[in-house]
Amino acid sequence: MSTHVRIGTDIDYAAAVLRSGGLVAIPTETVYGLAADATNPKAVAAIFAAKNRPTFDPLIVHLADISQVREYVCAFPPAAEQLASRYWPGPITLVLPRQSVIPDLVTSGLDGVGVRVPSHPMTLQLLRTCQCPLAAPSANPFGGISPTTASHVAAGLGHVVDYILDGGPCTVGVESTVVSFMQPQAVVLRPGGLSIEAISAVIGPVERAVSDPAKDDSAQPSPGMLSRHYAPRIPMRLIERDEIAIPASGQRCGLLTWGTNCETGFDRVINVSEAGDLQSCAAGFFAALRDLDSSGLDCIIARKFPDSGLGVALNDRLRRASS
Ligand code: TXA
Ligand code: MG
Repeated sequence: MSTHVRIGTDIDYAAAVLRSGGLVAIPTETVYGLAADATNPKAVAAIFAAKNRPTFDPLIVHLADISQVREYVCAFPPAAEQLASRYWPGPITLVLPRQSVIPDLVTSGLDGVGVRVPSHPMTLQLLRTCQCPLAAPSANPFGGISPTTASHVAAGLGHVVDYILDGGPCTVGVESTVVSFMQPQAVVLRPGGLSIEAISAVIGPVERAVSDPAKDDSAQPSPGMLSRHYAPRIPMRLIERDEIAIPASGQRCGLLTWGTNCETGFDRVINVSEAGDLQSCAAGFFAALRDLDSSGLDCIIARKFPDSGLGVALNDRLRRASS
C-alpha cells in the first residue's frame, strides 16, 4: 500500500517531476492517467513497467490545445479536425498518422498515434506548465479497474508513482472514445465517454471496429481492447436490463444495478443511478466495481445498461470485466 506516496495539488511540482522523466498520476474528466513526458522514451518505458502493461498496447498522448496536434501528426483530416474543434477539451481520442518525435514505444510501433485534449482544468494547467505532451494510460495495474479518484491510484500504483495530482473524482467516469483516422473512413476503436451518437452528429455514420476472436489480443484492430480487462478479482456475472437479479445460493453476493428494481437477498447492493441517468451511471461505475470487489463477497451480479449513449461504453466495460 501507499503510505509514502505524495498526493497533492502542486502543479509546478508535478511539472518538474515530469520534465525530469518521472511519473505523475493526473486527473482527467474520464479516469486518472499515469503520465510521463511522451517524447522521453525512458520515461515512457517506466509507465509500461509500473503498470506491468504489455508493450503491444499503445498509449494516448495528451495535449494542452488543438493547435499542438500538428506538431505530432503528419495529417489531420477535416473530419478529425471537426470532431476535435467540437468536443475538445473532452473525452475523445483521435488516432492520426504520427510524426517521428513520438517514440515507437508510445504507439507500440504502430503508424498512428492517439491524441486528446483532456478537460480537467488542473491537467490542462499542468500541460501548459510542463510544456511537453504527456503519454498517459489509465493509472491502474494492467487489466484492473480504472481509477476515478486519487486514492484509487494510491491503492494500486502508490508504490511506483512519484506524485499524484489530486483533482477530485472524475466527472465522466469511463475512458475516452477512441476514433481512428488511419483509413479514409473513421472507425471507432473503443466506445467511451463521448457517445457514438455525438460523433455521428458531426461527421455522419461511423464504423465500429470488431475484434476477431481467431486472433490474439496483440493483433486486434485496437490492440488494447483485450477480452478480459477492467476486471474485479471476484467473479462477475451479467444480467439483462429487465431481469430480476437472484443471488447465487450459499454465496455472499453483491449487486451492481441502476433503476428502480428492488432486489433482495444480496449482501451488498450498489445502485449507480435510480433514475437510470447514464451520466450518473458512468460517473459511479468504476468506484462501484471497486467497492464490490473489496467488500468480502464471493461474486458480483451486474445489470447491463441500455445499449445507447454512454451505455455502449459501460456495457463494453461490463463484458470485459466479466469475461
Ligand atoms: O480517457 C482515457 O482515454 C484515459 C485518460 C487517462 O486519458 N486513458 C486511457 O488509456 O484509457 P489506456 O491506455 O487505458 O487506453 C488506451 C487505449 C489503448 O489500449 C488502445 O485501445 C487505444 O487507446 N489506443 C491508443 N493509442 C492507439 C493507437 N496509436 N492506435 C490504436 N489504438 C490506440
Ligand atoms: Mg486502461
